Amino acid sequence: MSIDYQERIPNNVNLAQDKTLQRALEHWQPEFLSWWREMGPDGSTDFDVYLRTAVSVDRDGWAQFGHVKMPDYRWGIFLNPADPNYKINFGEHKGEAAWQEVPGEHRANLRRIIVTQGDTEPASVEQQRHLGLTAPSLYDLRNLFQVNVEEGRHLWAMVYLLHRYFGRDGREEAEALLERRSGDADNPRILGAFNEKTPDWLSFFMFTYFTDRDGKFQLCALAESGFEPLARTTKFMLTEEAHHMFVGEAGVGRIIQRTCQVMNELKTADASRLRAAGVIDLPTIQRYLNFHFSVTIDLFGADQSSNAATFFSSGLKGRFEETKLGDDHVLKGDAYPILILQDGRIVEQQVSALSSLNERLRDDYIRDSVAGVGRWNKIIEKAGIAFRLLAPHKAFNRKIGTFAGVRVSPTGELIDEAGWACRERDWLPSEADRAFVTSLMGRVTAPGKFANWIAPPAVGINRQPVEFEYVRFN
Ligand SMILES: [Fe+2]
Ligand SMILES: [Fe+2]
Repeated sequence: MSIDYQERIPNNVNLAQDKTLQRALEHWQPEFLSWWREMGPDGSTDFDVYLRTAVSVDRDGWAQFGHVKMPDYRWGIFLNPADPNYKINFGEHKGEAAWQEVPGEHRANLRRIIVTQGDTEPASVEQQRHLGLTAPSLYDLRNLFQVNVEEGRHLWAMVYLLHRYFGRDGREEAEALLERRSGDADNPRILGAFNEKTPDWLSFFMFTYFTDRDGKFQLCALAESGFEPLARTTKFMLTEEAHHMFVGEAGVGRIIQRTCQVMNELKTADASRLRAAGVIDLPTIQRYLNFHFSVTIDLFGADQSSNAATFFSSGLKGRFEETKLGDDHVLKGDAYPILILQDGRIVEQQVSALSSLNERLRDDYIRDSVAGVGRWNKIIEKAGIAFRLLAPHKAFNRKIGTFAGVRVSPTGELIDEAGWACRERDWLPSEADRAFVTSLMGRVTAPGKFANWIAPPAVGINRQPVEFEYVRFN
């Protein structure tokens, strides 16, 4: 499954054999590049960036590292190898051979799933496009750019599916993916969290920890799909996604580490003294965490959804680790607990397992994100500081589902509007918090140097030293 880099569009799908498809994608390619120039990382065109590029889809050694100018990055189409025994593993078609072409009756749903996933990829590049101007180190700048080029490649992955399997309306959707803009009033990105701003590096690390992890869970569910090309595409995307979550977890961890260090040096937990010393106090980090966590769990959709049931029953979108689960994989008549509001209390209720699949994926996601919060707390604990970060309650600050518009504290108490108004500032980043974090941002360009508010990483990239020149400005 090696990748052909002689082609204009690097690929491992024998693109040269399908001239019509190749021509269509070669027509889309310059449109992608002009989107990248317009909406990709600000002012970065001439930088040489130490990037990894996929050379094969093998489990080990798919990446090759070297300095590349980002517009010359070889975006391409990489699918995991086909499995001749691959079956539909869930839903009403369970046990049948997997689809190699789009089944007519599921065409609209499948296209919608692919477009929704595809839309998030360029959206995050747009959200992050100004961050390069304030990178805390060359190491971090390189990581940002690596994430950005890979999100660009994820867009390629979805666009390939649209062009290859959906004909004319697929081509139209592929063009629309380059026309929507994150945060645009008239033509926004499809999902809420992808229209929020990512204005500073604390937000960026929270985003790559929490929101790229939503990507992981969506991709895992699609990697189970009975439409095998989608499963093969998303499996390879997951290998890239792992790095994005690493960037987020390590980034937040290094901010915490630096804050704890200064807390111990100054022997204080006083936020104003810590801010004066140029680090981000832990309660502010908690508020950013609350924001990104709650905005991201909305991405899983309504707690009960007939679409989610249809996507599953028709074999399009599975559950997280579907084939490892011990049930019948059909779920007719099965139940699943969700939270509802009853007589002024939040209580659990058993509902149809099929209609609550969004909630189930959200719960899987929450378990996974909470684990990383525990790892951040270890850093605080090791520094001998009593503070602990906490993932907020599932009903906190929701805009979608049963708890949309219901006021719930981070610890899960129902409160009234007045109670919310007087505590909101303790729970979510205020304008003042954001202004303070913004005030710390400034580009650090000397190799091996780091901004004051973040600790250096323990190791560099690809066994390079931390002080390696990860980005060369020309
Ligand atoms: Fe992605
Ligand atoms: Fe990602």
